[in-house]
Amino acid sequence: MSRVEDKSFEYDYDGIEEYDNPLPRWWVWLFVGTVVFAAVYIPYFHFGPGQLPSAAWQSDMDEWLKLHPPVPLPSEEELANLEAEPGILDRGRSVFATRCSSCHALDGGGLIGPNLTDDHTIHGYSRASIAKVVHDGVPAKGMLAWGQQLSREEVLAVGLFTFHLRGKVAANPKAPQGDPIPSGSPHASADTP
Ligand code: HEC
Repeated sequence: MSRVEDKSFEYDYDGIEEYDNPLPRWWVWLFVGTVVFAAVYIPYFHFGPGQLPSAAWQSDMDEWLKLHPPVPLPSEEELANLEAEPGILDRGRSVFATRCSSCHALDGGGLIGPNLTDDHTIHGYSRASIAKVVHDGVPAKGMLAWGQQLSREEVLAVGLFTFHLRGKVAANPKAPQGDPIPSGSPHASADTP
């Protein structure tokens, strides 16, 4: 680095002097560099063809979704057939105990989340509508989108198990929420032994 001879302003306050030396070269070039960088970056990324990180992320996500379109959930009939698979309801019971009982109680009687054993429902009472609400959740109301946390098989198993909670007797049932289920609509527990 070149040595600079100290220059001084021509004043003095109580014996304190101030130097008038030039800024170090490296500092000046760094500063010029940031100005040149901004002169290129701002027009290119904010007004030109460049993509800001959020836009680049969005277009990557769009492309990913195009390559992996969401697989639709099974229909009511497919779920009824799936239910016949041995062990699926037991699998659902164990997922329910670990993931759902903190809000819906172990016996489905409801705590923070609604009672799943009574004849009232907010989001529907068919196998398909239960699978949908479990998969998509109701994030605004505190019900997670379990499709993002559990495997598809676990979502379907726990949905089917939940379907069969209706009609069970809960120890501490929460007051009904949502609409009454029309009388005469098939009772989940009536068709299971
Ligand atoms: C953090 C608490 C929480 C957890 C854990 C939770 N839920 Fe929920 N759940 C809720 C809340 C709150 C609602 C009510 C949503 C609304 O008001 O729309 C709900 C609603 C539901 C409904 C719809 C009930 C109706 O009346 O239509 C079903 C079915 C359900 N949950 C099943 C599950 C299953 C299965 C799990 C475990 C995989 C689970 N929930 C875990 C809080 C929770």
